[in-house]
Amino acid sequence: MLHENLGVNEKGHLTFAGADVVTLAEKYGTPLMLLDEMRIRKTIRTYKQALEENFGAGSYPLFASKALCFKGIYRLAAEEGIGIDTVSVGEIYTAKAAGFDLKKAYFHGNNKTDADIRYAVENGVGTFVVDNEDELRALESYLAAAGKKQDILLRITPGIDPHTHKAIVTGSVDSKFGSAIETGQAEGITRLALSLPHIVLKGFHCHVGSQIFDIDPFTEAADIMLRFIAYIAANTGYTAEVLNLGGGLGVKYVEGQPVLDYAAVIREMAAVIKLRAAEIGCALPHILLEPGRSLVADAGITLYTVGSVKTITGYKSYVSVDGGMPDNPRYALYEAPYTVLLASKADAPSDFKCSVVGRCCESGDILQENVTLPKPVRGDILAVLCTGAYNYAMASNYNRIPRPAVVWVNEGADTLAIRRETYEDMTRLEV
Ligand code: LLP
Repeated sequence: MLHENLGVNEKGHLTFAGADVVTLAEKYGTPLMLLDEMRIRKTIRTYKQALEENFGAGSYPLFASKALCFKGIYRLAAEEGIGIDTVSVGEIYTAKAAGFDLKKAYFHGNNKTDADIRYAVENGVGTFVVDNEDELRALESYLAAAGKKQDILLRITPGIDPHTHKAIVTGSVDSKFGSAIETGQAEGITRLALSLPHIVLKGFHCHVGSQIFDIDPFTEAADIMLRFIAYIAANTGYTAEVLNLGGGLGVKYVEGQPVLDYAAVIREMAAVIKLRAAEIGCALPHILLEPGRSLVADAGITLYTVGSVKTITGYKSYVSVDGGMPDNPRYALYEAPYTVLLASKADAPSDFKCSVVGRCCESGDILQENVTLPKPVRGDILAVLCTGAYNYAMASNYNRIPRPAVVWVNEGADTLAIRRETYEDMTRLEV
């Protein structure tokens, strides 16, 4: 099995976090997303402990809540004592509604509107991650009028060559995010931040990309950022307290991909980063990481009911399910690989090659191609694994398909986390 929270019981049904998924599909209906609560808590604890042990108190993880945003996950983050990365007022609002202490929220985004700035400051968001000079000036002018001060980090683009690390695009100089070191704009915005009376500069942020299995991009980014911090200290006298290295550690979606030991990865990162800091002569700031995918992806699976199964003679077979790109647009967008299992016959031999497709009126509505399953029939339950990150968060109502229900599973016990969307929910905004 792909992950250790999966198994097969005596009925031949797939089990997830100790529960029979076919039973849960019957109880809650499909499509259905299940979330393994203990797995999320465990991974959070691993990050939290590893950051503190290797970088000291004041170094901690922020959950990148764009990966999975709903009230329950912010409650869990609050209980585990971690911070959150938010990218919109919608996320901040949801965190607040869940009772999350917004002092531990970091507010990202390359285009915060004046209304966003006002909302976040009024609601006590702890730290802004300021993207660019326009935003910095807008924030300062709002703060000056409101008579308030605000902690910020500056988002810097370290300029890592995307040709070396193909998956990495967000940290390159030509990016919609941040200010580049290479062009001198990172220094410029730092000097500006230091000159503004209502801005309290706490340090710097960078993010190199997502679904990364190698530590080199992180240590390379850290090296560049530490050199920048040392340069700024030498030239302005300002010492950064915080270096946020963003998110991006990878998750195993399919066989052949590694399982990362996040504690070991952080330990290795720390060894390299401390060495580099000593060589550069830069005091080590507190290190923050912003994991999204790695905290929730493999703690989620999605269940579907099989509908039509058809074979186009001489071509291939299609298995249609009662969800698709509305609840999981990642294959349509990125050709993202997933492991698909026939959950209601999980112990049967797999010999039926097919494409698993959704129910939308669009050929691109594919969940996965070239899948081999036991031959499914109408009514079987199919599971797509590793759907906890960027699935529910990116779900839509395309073709007026309601979003699935989400259920917590905790060592065999299930509780509703998000109720299934109704047709009434979908039309409630319409006048
Ligand atoms: N911090 C920043 C500033 C980010 O932009 C991101 C992700 C993260 C943290 C979290 O990265 P993670 O640990 O999840 O890799 N929709 C895409 C992923 C987009 C990621 C955007 N930024 C997908 O479905 O694969």
